[in-house]
Amino acid sequence: MALSAVLVFALPFVGAAGALKLQARDSAPWTLQGCYTDTSTSRTLAAASFVNASMTVESCIAFCGAGGFSLAGVEFGDECYCDHALQSTGTLSSAANCNQACSGNSTEFCGAGNFLDVYWNGTPLPIIPQEVGTWEYAGCFSDSVTSRQLPNPQTISGGVTVESCTSACKAKGFSVAGLEFGQECMCGSSLPTSSLLSDSDCSTACAANTTEFCGGPSKLTVYEDPTGQICSSMTHSANFNLAAVFVTPPTTGPASVPLHVNMIQTVTLVSWSILTTANGIFTSEVLTNGGLLPMAASQPQFRTSSLAVKPGDSPIFVTTQFPPTAVGPYCTMLNPMVATGPQVLALSGRSDLWALCPNSTAGGRVDVVYSPIDNHPHYTKASCQALFFSLSQTFNLSNSRSSFSLYILAW
Ligand SMILES: *[C@@H]1O[C@H](CO)[C@@H](O)[C@H](O)[C@H]1NC(C)=O
Ligand SMILES: *[C@@H]1O[C@H](CO)[C@@H](O)[C@H](O)[C@H]1NC(C)=O
Ligand SMILES: *[C@@H]1O[C@H](CO)[C@@H](O)[C@H](O)[C@H]1NC(C)=O
Ligand SMILES: *[C@@H]1O[C@H](CO)[C@@H](O)[C@H](O)[C@H]1NC(C)=O
Ligand SMILES: *[C@@H]1O[C@H](CO)[C@@H](O)[C@H](O)[C@H]1NC(C)=O
Repeated sequence: MALSAVLVFALPFVGAAGALKLQARDSAPWTLQGCYTDTSTSRTLAAASFVNASMTVESCIAFCGAGGFSLAGVEFGDECYCDHALQSTGTLSSAANCNQACSGNSTEFCGAGNFLDVYWNGTPLPIIPQEVGTWEYAGCFSDSVTSRQLPNPQTISGGVTVESCTSACKAKGFSVAGLEFGQECMCGSSLPTSSLLSDSDCSTACAANTTEFCGGPSKLTVYEDPTGQICSSMTHSANFNLAAVFVTPPTTGPASVPLHVNMIQTVTLVSWSILTTANGIFTSEVLTNGGLLPMAASQPQFRTSSLAVKPGDSPIFVTTQFPPTAVGPYCTMLNPMVATGPQVLALSGRSDLWALCPNSTAGGRVDVVYSPIDNHPHYTKASCQALFFSLSQTFNLSNSRSSFSLYILAW
């Protein structure tokens, strides 16, 4: 995706620079790149500006150069604009359209109304790096201050760059990193669900590295680490409980639903349990080496271990006199929704595949399902989606000392 952005930005320069070499207005090392369209509502050079009744090409270039910008543009005789990159709304136009004399030097041209003479100092223009370490560019997405797509803002000493933001997100166990407004870094565990924009809409250079892009105003340059989400720990020996908590609580009804490990089948000396909203004898769990161990306070002799979970099924547990070593692999992860929120419980390296599905062969009992599948004998995937349509869900496992959450996102 970035390749096209590079071409969009770079090609007009290459072409125009060659064609305009003969023009007398060049001011080395700044060279005229051409006459570009501009509008007052969406500036072609948007980072800085000033207006002066004695504007010259030289005074504009001096102003932009002092600000560290590589592009300077004069317009309407007395206006000067600066940026690190041409914004996508500006297009190359005929040189004849930039025909207005500068207010401070009548022998120079300073663009015209809605036309900008653009000068470049020759330093490299910003790009969208396609790969940074294990991270891959995922696109330019819309964002809003009131509803963040990636809810974990990062403070990075030394400044926000694609490199520093992706490594900060990775260090905290996140698999998605986003850069916004030239200087903001945010992390999450799933790609934004907002509109995917054109690459060229994320055209604000990083303040800390002006040769790469850091989103734009309310626009996120997003990177994804396909090596996945990162476990913080596979052992949590303090007991915890489970509850499903709505991230966006329903307008009526409870904001959370307790979850339980519940026996569904018993033969002599052996019982099997699943994770469900229905009540059961197990009152808490611990996590040991990736295995989940439900505890029954009323029946402490019950020894129960998690078994391997197939995608599409409910987590399964077995209770026997000599249970197998608990397997999962379960682990804890940092909260992908609320930076300061409780950790989440993940299975097989994913915290975002949990769902609640009404079980059609168990009277509609709502069971936890790991990564719902089509054509399951006990539920329809559509009924899971209908149950949580347009909501992000979180399960909260907590006790007085610690808490965990399981997240349900759209799949
Ligand atoms: C604006 O113009 C005045 C003269 O009218 C000049 O003294 C001043 O330096 C100019 N400002 C800039 C930023 O060029
Ligand atoms: C006016 O512009 C011309 C052409 O760029 C330049 O040669 C001249 O020095 C400028 N005069 C002033 C006073 O800046
Ligand atoms: C600045 O960005 C460029 C282009 O992505 C990159 O090659 C360079 O390593 C970056 N510099 C720093 C210090 O991050
Ligand atoms: C649904 O109920 C059946 C019968 O109790 C059970 O075997 C199954 O594990 C339940 N849940 C799911 C998600 O299949
Ligand atoms: C999860 O549980 C903890 C501990 O009881 C509580 O402080 C926290 O607010 C809960 N989280 C949500 C999202 O309700």
